[in-house]
Amino acid sequence: MTERNIAVVGSGYMGGGIAQVLAISGATVKLADISEEIAKGNLERLIAEARQFVADGLFPSNAVELIEKNVSAAASIEEAVADADFIEEAVPEKIEIKHATLARISAAARPDAIIGSNTSTILIGKLAEAVTNPERFLGVHFSNPAPFIPGVELIPHGGTNPDLIATVEEIVAATGKQTARIKDATGFVLNRLQYALFHEATQLVEEGVASADDIDTIVRTTFGFRLPFFGPFAIADMAGLDVYAFCYASLQTEFPERFATPKVLQDLVDAGKLGTKTGAGFLDVPADRTAELVAYRNKAYVAMAKLIDELGPAPIH
Ligand SMILES: NC(=O)c1ccc[n+]([C@@H]2O[C@H](COP(=O)([O-])OP(=O)(O)OC[C@H]3O[C@@H](n4cnc5c(N)ncnc54)[C@H](O)[C@@H]3O)[C@@H](O)[C@H]2O)c1
Repeated sequence: MTERNIAVVGSGYMGGGIAQVLAISGATVKLADISEEIAKGNLERLIAEARQFVADGLFPSNAVELIEKNVSAAASIEEAVADADFIEEAVPEKIEIKHATLARISAAARPDAIIGSNTSTILIGKLAEAVTNPERFLGVHFSNPAPFIPGVELIPHGGTNPDLIATVEEIVAATGKQTARIKDATGFVLNRLQYALFHEATQLVEEGVASADDIDTIVRTTFGFRLPFFGPFAIADMAGLDVYAFCYASLQTEFPERFATPKVLQDLVDAGKLGTKTGAGFLDVPADRTAELVAYRNKAYVAMAKLIDELGPAPIH
């Protein structure tokens, strides 16, 4: 349990979910919005939502009590941030609104308060232009739906003090979520990868290779099925980097530029580092743990198949 004072500025969809999980983690949270009335109305919505989540078994049984005790609606941004150790900005994705809000937050917050932004797409360095003492500012990017998606991108900009990142990691870890540190680059990691996949998927539809429905089925039931357990590098190491190099060569017969063999892959193959089977690849999995890894993988996939079976199909059709 943390004894932290946190302010969430922008109590809408994302800010609301972030406030819920922070409050459940034990932090004291002040919510700010355009007005006190809006913040109060959103707090009521968060409590009602949490009641439903508890009834559905999605939140711990004491979640409503914790949110009622730990979250309050502030009269203004200035009031919300005045004694905060950490402030998360979650106002709309418009640079003018973000700049004006971050200027107000940084003018009213303690000089040692850490300020995070939930921006999905705006460079953190660009947002930092409006922050006084920008060394205490970074991206803290929760995913939708914030109460239930476990990953959070932490994005320091060029001038962020690296020493404060550990504190943000602790705050997020207290909610049960996982963080990864990334550089301030357009699209960050999540959106760059997600949109690269979506781009190729839409090309397949446009070329008439498969319908949107059939592509979704393939993604869900083949490589997407692995992704909760293994990221693309672990998957490549397990498949064999020489196999990946062959696949690239095949793809190049039709799309020579789009699927040029990545240099980092070719260098590993040339060095005989072919992934798990050689004990070295992108992730250096020791060869003597291969049997353990295969056993984990098989168990994970069977557990995933059972879970999907129990849940039934998504109500899309
Ligand atoms: N919705 C998503 O899927 C998602 C996912 C990840 C990140 N984000 C990012 O989170 C941020 C918030 O998005 P959202 O979907 O929660 O939006 P939202 O519209 O649901 O919430 C924004 C909130 O900010 C308030 N607000 C507007 N102007 C304000 C101001 N000047 N001062 C104080 N509060 C103000 C609004 O009243 C509203 O309550 C955006 O940067 C967005 O890109 C959204």
